[in-house]
Amino acid sequence: MNDTLTSKEIETNVDFLPLNGTDYVEFYVGNAKQAAHFYKTAFGFQSCAYAGPETGVKDRASYVLTQNKLRFVFTTPLQPEGEIAEHVKKHGDGVKVLALWVDDARKAWEETTKRGAKSFMEPRVEKDEQGEVVRAGIHTYGETVHIFVERSNYNGPFLPGYETWTSEYNPSDAGLLYVDHCVGNVGWNEMNQWVKFYEDVMGFKNILSFDDKDISTEYSALMSKVMSNGNGRIKFPINEPAEGKKKSQVEEYLDFYKSQGVQHVAIATNNIIETVKDLKSRGVEFLTVPQSYYDTVLDRVGTIDEDLKDLAPLGILIDHDDEGYLLQIFTKPVEDRPTLFYEIIQRKGAKSFGKGNFKALFEALEREQDRRGNL
Ligand code: FE2
Repeated sequence: MNDTLTSKEIETNVDFLPLNGTDYVEFYVGNAKQAAHFYKTAFGFQSCAYAGPETGVKDRASYVLTQNKLRFVFTTPLQPEGEIAEHVKKHGDGVKVLALWVDDARKAWEETTKRGAKSFMEPRVEKDEQGEVVRAGIHTYGETVHIFVERSNYNGPFLPGYETWTSEYNPSDAGLLYVDHCVGNVGWNEMNQWVKFYEDVMGFKNILSFDDKDISTEYSALMSKVMSNGNGRIKFPINEPAEGKKKSQVEEYLDFYKSQGVQHVAIATNNIIETVKDLKSRGVEFLTVPQSYYDTVLDRVGTIDEDLKDLAPLGILIDHDDEGYLLQIFTKPVEDRPTLFYEIIQRKGAKSFGKGNFKALFEALEREQDRRGNL
């Protein structure tokens, strides 16, 4: 056998969309000034950059916040016209952009659009005295977009046009490190078409699947497939609702977000006990599980480094896979609409997503859904 690859094989083995990581997450919100204050106060983000009327941007204001490798942007419209105002009117506050850090934004846009992605933004060079950034974007599920960001020739705080934002109000950080994964909710029977989108258009692989049988039919059901890029730095689970005895939490999301969209952003920490204690003291609200969860959890997951006495009062969940275990907890939605929420996750070897916690978690979610009258 000839052990050299044919040119076709080489072509299919090369990652046509190399991604360095998440560059930023941009939210379209009703009041960016207050959202920025909330994320500083409640989640420990730091002031980084600003663009708005004072910097020559007339139609919007954007606040950039960072915490370790996390970069969140909160953008609000200044007038009732335009796509940002329409987005906020329809969806409430939510994620508009999942931006991906690349070495070559033009190539990322060309490779994805030639495979069928719908263009959101043709490659554009943005410049100021700090250098230049190349950005380009494509549409994904709902009104969510991916923007490719090439910033190797840029030294400014965020993007050209943004000024450094220094504030006299600087709450301490909460140990939040980077985006572990971002989950999208799509409609009935739409999961596989988005799995195919990430496979065909972005070269991702389906690394894990959960079907409705993983979840008891007593509880609201969903199906999920986890899509990952080649180096594993970008993981996008895709959920669709499934039939259960009760209304699926994904359906409730779709009823209020009014389209497909980002359901949760999972953020990594190296010390979930300290991070969650800190976040709770700052007013972040988490889902709780019955204390009976802790009676049997170690029978399921085996030995862990942490003491259950520290995890149980905080409601931190534990799951495991062949490679180790993970600790995770979910916030309540951070808007009045039951839409976007956060997961805080500490991985101790495990590369999975907490399937073993679905049942306990769904019971907790259903209690909240029931209180809203949406079950
Ligand atoms: Fe998650």
